[in-house]
Amino acid sequence: MNNSIIEISEMSLTDFEEIQSVLISDFDDFWNSETLKNELKNNNSYYIVAKINNSIVGFAGIKTVLDEADIMNIVTKKDSRNSGIGSALFSSIINYAKSNNVKKITLEVNENNVPAIKLYKKFGFEQIAKREKYYNGTDNAIIMQLLIS
Ligand SMILES: CC(C)(COP(=O)(O)OP(=O)(O)OC[C@H]1O[C@@H](n2cnc3c(N)ncnc32)[C@H](O)[C@@H]1OP(=O)(O)O)[C@@H](O)C(=O)NCCC(=O)NCCS
Repeated sequence: MNNSIIEISEMSLTDFEEIQSVLISDFDDFWNSETLKNELKNNNSYYIVAKINNSIVGFAGIKTVLDEADIMNIVTKKDSRNSGIGSALFSSIINYAKSNNVKKITLEVNENNVPAIKLYKKFGFEQIAKREKYYNGTDNAIIMQLLIS
């Protein structure tokens, strides 16, 4: 896995069909496949997949309105985590935002989600707010932001 080449490309309908039935079992995704399919049709949204040996091992999405963007989702396949795929996806998403003149990227994350927060901080995101008991009425949400000059 460590020596495998991670290829990043825009998510196609074929890619979506490949992952839709295994979204929850393999990717631990918190969205249902219908929501994801609708996102792919949204002109403001941009979704990418990471592939190793032609097989999807992760995906991420961003929604842009004028010069501001929100990270919608980032997930690595359960059996492939902690091997650089999330970083490759996130780097690609941020480069996409930069090349589209985005000045501010915002995201929201469960404060207990250690791997995700580590990933975001690695790319320069900083906490700007907290929403108490946002997830399931128990876990706090952290709002993080990256300003691009
Ligand atoms: C968050 C997530 C996308 C990270 O993907 P990944 O492919 O494991 O990311 P990477 O391998 O590039 O690791 C990114 C950083 O997090 C760290 N990390 C990864 N897994 C970790 C873990 N279990 N515990 C602590 N740190 C971890 C890595 O060390 C790395 O930091 P480093 O480069 O400084 O060493 C993945 O954990 C995931 O899919 N989680 C479930 C979905 C989710 O929670 N998405 C975010 C919603 S806001």
